[in-house]
Amino acid sequence: MKELKIFSPATVANVSCGFDVLGFCLDSIGDEMVVRKTDKKGIHITKITGYDLPFDPEKNVAGVSALALLKDVQPDFGFEIEIYKKIKPGSGVGSSAASAVGSVFAMNEILGRPYNRTELTNFAMKGEALASKSEHADNIAPAIFGGFTLVKSVAPLDILQLPTPNDLWAVIIHPQIEIKTAEARAILPKNIPLKDAITQWSNVGSLVHALHSNDYDLLSKSLTDVVVEPHRSKLIPHFDLIRETVLKHGALGCGISGSGPSIFSLSHGHKKAQNVAEAIQNVFVKTNIPFEIYISKINTQGIKIL
Ligand code: HSE
Repeated sequence: MKELKIFSPATVANVSCGFDVLGFCLDSIGDEMVVRKTDKKGIHITKITGYDLPFDPEKNVAGVSALALLKDVQPDFGFEIEIYKKIKPGSGVGSSAASAVGSVFAMNEILGRPYNRTELTNFAMKGEALASKSEHADNIAPAIFGGFTLVKSVAPLDILQLPTPNDLWAVIIHPQIEIKTAEARAILPKNIPLKDAITQWSNVGSLVHALHSNDYDLLSKSLTDVVVEPHRSKLIPHFDLIRETVLKHGALGCGISGSGPSIFSLSHGHKKAQNVAEAIQNVFVKTNIPFEIYISKINTQGIKIL
């Protein structure tokens, strides 16, 4: 195999209570990339459409993760990468993770799969670090593994795949403003009160149990973040209005998607997700802030070959 086209999905990180550890994969939004084996050594980004991103592989998220993998393999050939960027950078749905994952996933396939998914996550984290100034895997892991994932540890890297309830749907509203992950991380406190930590780990534990037991009520009760959301929600216009609206229209819960500005909500069934999306549409249109809304089933497959 010399060339491969892939779909690299958007993802929701944190999932309310699981800052930097929990994430899930979306299926209706993602980037496409073409990766090609070339005689010329090194990584060469030859085409980028959609957004204005650097062609220099050392400055491009997909390039940095690709270089990390290439350094490990040291082949006597190289790779060309074309990026058809659909996920807006700084949108909060794992734009940089999709790029970082796409190049290494495709290279691994072309090379005959020398690396497992955890090892690919490790290479992709190098790209993510370029964008967010921190090596975290809560967007990368769900993009590679699909469904819900929990990053048990970053060093050494240990990813747990969690079950996905059958009829779980996400609605994402993306107000068209940009929040840089590095900045959204910089405003977070270095220490948190013990009582907040207790609430948070209780919610993470019960959320994981809810996924295992297909318990939508428990899932709903667990989607609370007392650690990060109180700080970051101030960066997102009308966050409280969105929360109030989605809960009133039957969503199980909602939170900031990754570092924002996107806001995710989860619903039991497509019909309820549609109601939620419609309600957000009706409310947010009055704010005069441009926005996009996506409805997506949780994508249990993750990144795929097209
Ligand atoms: N866990 C990360 C954060 C996700 O919230 O900062 C965004 O990269």
